[in-house]
Amino acid sequence: MAAFKKLVFSGVQPTGNLHLGNYLGAIKRFVEMQERADCLYCVVDLHAITLWQNPAELRTQIREVTAAFIAAGIDPKRSIVFNQSQVPQHAELAWIFNCVARLGWLNRMTQFKDKAGKDRENASVGLYDYPVLMAADILAYRATHVPVGEDQKQHLELTRDIAQKFNTDFAESIEAHGHGEGFFPITEPLIGGPAARVMSLRDGTKKMSKSDPSDYSRINLTDDADAIAQKVRKAKTDPEPLPSEAAGLNGRPEADNLVGIFAALRGATREAVLAEYGGAQFSAFKGALVELAVESLSPLSAEMKRLVADPAHIDAVLADGSERAAAIAAPTLDAVKDIVGFVRRGR
Ligand code: TYM
Repeated sequence: MAAFKKLVFSGVQPTGNLHLGNYLGAIKRFVEMQERADCLYCVVDLHAITLWQNPAELRTQIREVTAAFIAAGIDPKRSIVFNQSQVPQHAELAWIFNCVARLGWLNRMTQFKDKAGKDRENASVGLYDYPVLMAADILAYRATHVPVGEDQKQHLELTRDIAQKFNTDFAESIEAHGHGEGFFPITEPLIGGPAARVMSLRDGTKKMSKSDPSDYSRINLTDDADAIAQKVRKAKTDPEPLPSEAAGLNGRPEADNLVGIFAALRGATREAVLAEYGGAQFSAFKGALVELAVESLSPLSAEMKRLVADPAHIDAVLADGSERAAAIAAPTLDAVKDIVGFVRRGR
């Protein structure tokens, strides 16, 4: 396998409100990655339209996710921040990958089954093909590391399978074009930390999600201090006090979730939180959690508000990021076309 430069890629859909799961499982970790590697962070608007979106709202939400990235601490000068539809290579590579990926692989994707629900015949073809576009997002840059929440694990396995199959199917041509043994890296998913899977505040066995009909199930990044306090106070718990060790959270999904959220907000481990709060009643722990959540999220939502008030600035960030992204993706696509055997202009 050829050596690949460490490069981080991740994406967030501009659909509905961003919530604490998106922040702790993904965006907060994107910020930290900037210290360790070159990073690309993408607002995946092509993915968003796999379910119908109101066009005016979609535009607003693309800007909102961009604002959240910047407000959280992603520096658009240092990292590349852009929206997917401005870089045509994503869709182009997705087509080529459609011819590499196998139907059987896609048939196993659990997120499609969840999202399509019972009426599968009526789901868009795009929704089914969604994970192939994800592979194209990542591999258009030959990214080596992808920070995501736990729910994206299966999609990243598919990305690895596609890279592997492309490298094998075209091994001779890859070699002949001077790319060594493998053209695409086998991407490492970075799933971890205490909040890889933030659960609903109403049901500790269900993922916190944008599509949950109850707003009390999630903390939105735009919630004010009162809303955060109300939602945490109403969060489901069990009657026992907190355990003093992480093993004591087994079989207590709601307690585990709140401790995980606390740990991720503070940048600590569950163990450290329990060393401090073991034996405490939920009423006391929830009070501390409200304080920590408000302290962490209020500056973020204030900064998001300030940024979205200036859409021209956000659009300029996206235009600049898209240009820089395309400068990396275009040569990759040229090389892919040569490897596959297409005839192209300029050769
Ligand atoms: P999306 O927009 O659903 O979510 C964005 C990120 O937030 C994470 N996340 C969570 N983490 C912890 N707990 C939760 N409850 C929770 N809910 C969401 C997701 O894991 C994700 O990291 N398919 C992706 C977007 C995408 C992408 C990519 C990601 C498109 N192309 C290429 C990585 C690389 C998605 O729908 O994320």
